[in-house]
Amino acid sequence: MPLLELDGVSKRFGGLIAVNDVSLKIEKGESFGIVGPNGSGKTTLFNLISGIYRPDSGRIFFDGQEITELPPYRRAQLGIGRSFQIPRPFKGATVRENVAVGALFGTLSGKIDVDSALEIADHYIEVVGLHEKRNDEAERLTAVEKKLLELARALAMKPKLLLLDEVVAGMNPKDVDRVVDLIKRVKEEEEIAVVAMVEHVIPAVMKFAERIMVMHEGRKMVEGPTLEVLMMDEVAMVYFGESKLPGE
Ligand SMILES: Nc1ncnc2c1ncn2[C@@H]1O[C@H](COP(=O)(O)OP(=O)(O)OP(=O)(O)O)[C@@H](O)[C@H]1O
Ligand SMILES: [Mg+2]
Repeated sequence: MPLLELDGVSKRFGGLIAVNDVSLKIEKGESFGIVGPNGSGKTTLFNLISGIYRPDSGRIFFDGQEITELPPYRRAQLGIGRSFQIPRPFKGATVRENVAVGALFGTLSGKIDVDSALEIADHYIEVVGLHEKRNDEAERLTAVEKKLLELARALAMKPKLLLLDEVVAGMNPKDVDRVVDLIKRVKEEEEIAVVAMVEHVIPAVMKFAERIMVMHEGRKMVEGPTLEVLMMDEVAMVYFGESKLPGE
């Protein structure tokens, strides 16, 4: 049984079909990438999986149960962790407190006290390399540091499925490399499935994902092994607006 299964999921905003009849299966322990041009529906798909939106049609299953109608906090407890494309740290709270919130509302929700949540927070703050800033107000972090904070908070949820929405966007190549490495390491150590969308950072996709799905205008255009898919002419067309990959 797959860890996550989407069965013909669609979401409309007025006349626009942001996600159009997407079916997808993700297995335990997978490294899966979602790519596609701006506005192709990637973040909306994450919002459907994490419960921010309910689909207009289709069903979603996670870890053996249907979650289509469950609210976000229940999905977080079941093991769906996510980061946000636009970081949203809690105002007036420190880095440490922000990450502890992830621990308190994730799979350990109701099982740990605030002190344990802070311990978990310290661990993941160290993992992402923000330890020197742990007592700073989260609002004051740089854009890249806020991305790392999003990652630490999502990891502190101790998820079975981790949804990363452009977590490396805006980072320099060295940081991209470091962050992709640490995501791979944590994924192996904690046996989580990671679904990341890093569409503007193709080297990160190639380094990270074994399998990818390309979205185009809300639809799943193609899905398969990363390199194979990236080499397809039709993918180059929607992706780069030309018929060949750059350099060819
Ligand atoms: N809350 C909303 N209300 C109305 N339209 C929306 C809403 N959220 C997304 N959309 C629209 O749905 C489409 C898909 O948007 P989405 O953010 O999912 O794309 P994306 O693939 O994540 O894009 P990007 O690469 O820019 O992050 C876009 O046309 C967007 O304008
Ligand atoms: Mg997006």
